[in-house]
Amino acid sequence: METVLGVSGVYHAYGGTPALDGVDLQVGTGECVALLGPNGAGKTTLVNLAIGLLRVQRGQVRLAGGNPRDAGTRRHLGVVQQALGFPATLKVGELVAGAAVRGGRPRSAAGPVLAELGLTELAGRRAAKLSGGQKQRLQLAMALVTEPDLLVLDEPTAGLDVAARRRFWQLLEQRRERGTGVLVTTHLIEESAAVADRVVVLDKGSVLAEGSPQELVALLPDRTVVARTLLDLDRLRALPGVVAARGGGEHVRLSTRTPEDLLRVLLAEDPALADLRVEGAGLEEAVDALTTRPQEVLR
Ligand SMILES: Nc1ncnc2c1ncn2[C@@H]1O[C@H](COP(=O)(O)OP(=O)(O)OP(=O)(O)O)[C@@H](O)[C@H]1O
Ligand SMILES: [Mg+2]
Repeated sequence: METVLGVSGVYHAYGGTPALDGVDLQVGTGECVALLGPNGAGKTTLVNLAIGLLRVQRGQVRLAGGNPRDAGTRRHLGVVQQALGFPATLKVGELVAGAAVRGGRPRSAAGPVLAELGLTELAGRRAAKLSGGQKQRLQLAMALVTEPDLLVLDEPTAGLDVAARRRFWQLLEQRRERGTGVLVTTHLIEESAAVADRVVVLDKGSVLAEGSPQELVALLPDRTVVARTLLDLDRLRALPGVVAARGGGEHVRLSTRTPEDLLRVLLAEDPALADLRVEGAGLEEAVDALTTRPQEVLR
């Protein structure tokens, strides 16, 4: 696998405040990397460095072997930005055809991509008159139409309805199979887990952890015991093996590393216990735990 995006030792500050501090990240051909982390973690800053929108202050960014600040290098790139306006007077079809030409493809490449994203009927509409989700699909069409080596997508699913999101992840999977590298940021963690080969968790400007979705979930030994009980939260927190207890009314969620032991005690303490369920942790819980109690998870 060739490296299509290589970021090493990148530091970036706004004013005097660092937003990224020593970040390394690689995306290979045909690889899908999900960049996850809470608001303000530095994801968009990293993305904007990768696509040449921000100038590198310290460290190195290489895109398809070149500098992403060079227009020639950026031809290898398809981008969806988190905040972007369109020229209000241009029509959907013109914008996608224009993007194709700028990426060295024929105008006729626009048709199939418009169809893929369900935009064919909107091709004659001015971009300014699209709904939020339609604008997002237009951005995706403009990113995909150039058949880029690397797709960099910052919150590409924002505003998309359920069907459009499902379609989007399918499109991504197809492009990836054809060898396109993908770097995608999203807050839809479980959805990204189904497509991503690798997940990078960013927090406060640093990479906290990276690995396959399965590897990150495996960092988290917790199970969640869900039940209806008359025992109050203080009493539950005092039970052996309870890491955290949440809930209100009668429904409680107990985090534990030893669910079998906890269940034995719980059933003995509350003979009326009902609606019992034991849930595994998913990627969403893993990312949440990594960013809220990293010392505990990364022991
Ligand atoms: N143009 C800017 N000027 C000053 N500070 C900025 C600027 N852009 C971002 N920041 C700050 O840098 C930090 C990282 O922001 P960034 O937009 O990269 O986060 P993010 O991970 O993309 O968050 P979100 O999930 O909300 O999109 C934040 O503290 C933010 O306030
Ligand atoms: Mg962002």
